[in-house]
Amino acid sequence: MGTVALVTGASSGLGEGFARELAVRCADLVLVARRQDRLEALAVDLAEKFGTVSTVIPLDLAAPGAVAELVADLSTRKIPIGTLVNSAGFGTVGNFIEADAAREAEQIALNVQAVTILTRALLPDLVATAAREPGAAALVNFASTAAFQAVPRMSVYAASKAYVLSFTEALWYETRGTGLKVTAVCPGLVDTEFSDVAQRTTPAGERPRRSLTVDDVVRSSFAALDRAVTPPLVVNGSRNRMLAQVSTLAPRRAVLTVLGRRRHS
Ligand SMILES: NC(=O)c1ccc[n+]([C@@H]2O[C@H](COP(=O)([O-])OP(=O)(O)OC[C@H]3O[C@@H](n4cnc5c(N)ncnc54)[C@H](OP(=O)(O)O)[C@@H]3O)[C@@H](O)[C@H]2O)c1
Repeated sequence: MGTVALVTGASSGLGEGFARELAVRCADLVLVARRQDRLEALAVDLAEKFGTVSTVIPLDLAAPGAVAELVADLSTRKIPIGTLVNSAGFGTVGNFIEADAAREAEQIALNVQAVTILTRALLPDLVATAAREPGAAALVNFASTAAFQAVPRMSVYAASKAYVLSFTEALWYETRGTGLKVTAVCPGLVDTEFSDVAQRTTPAGERPRRSLTVDDVVRSSFAALDRAVTPPLVVNGSRNRMLAQVSTLAPRRAVLTVLGRRRHS
């Protein structure tokens, strides 16, 4: 999947899972997240198992100027990127009126701004790679089933993922015919650190029910990427696909009411 694949959020969860699958498929990697120790451990593991060459770039992508710094770093090191996986992201839970404004701004900076600016910077290289090596270049952005409707008590998160889905679908159309595979991955709940970061619990204080594993999401996403024509979005899991359809077809106010009644869904 491209000579070099850059994966943001590679220190955990879905980003790590995608990095592992890309290594199996012989891509070299640029691994980006804040926790350098995790990235370095992954790089060592992938080098031992698959002979992968990984470049570790520890960075807070929500910080002002971080994406520009990353792009300059890639240019200085002369690393051409053939595949980009924008997995870094987090969600906040709670009524917006009580939200920490700085944390909400950070969420938008990471989930929306960093994805947009990094994609803009690397898209020409991705398209050039696709022209040189048909089928070898991809742009994968992580949306969510939260992208299909508003989610009370996860208002900013759901809106950020609606942005990612809309943005990615538009890029899928704009790049058709270039050979670049573009898709928005839309998982429902996945067993990663996401819920810990979001501090998402049920009212009884229990952890939310898990439905998918990282492997489930990696498998179904790569099955879509392997198709001759990659679809603009992948909803992982049959139950999630059904719920996404219902959310799209049902009256918006009815969907909002059902989701609003669920605690921290
Ligand atoms: N898990 C789910 O239920 C679920 C469902 C739907 C969609 N998603 C989406 O899938 C993507 C991956 O989530 P996940 O489930 O893998 O969660 P995760 O296990 O919490 O991983 C999130 C990744 O993002 C990185 N990250 C967070 N803040 C960052 C920052 N400021 N700068 C750079 N990297 C940062 C984290 O690394 P560091 O902490 O080391 O920086 C980590 O590698 C996210 O976009 C999420 O919205 C997840």
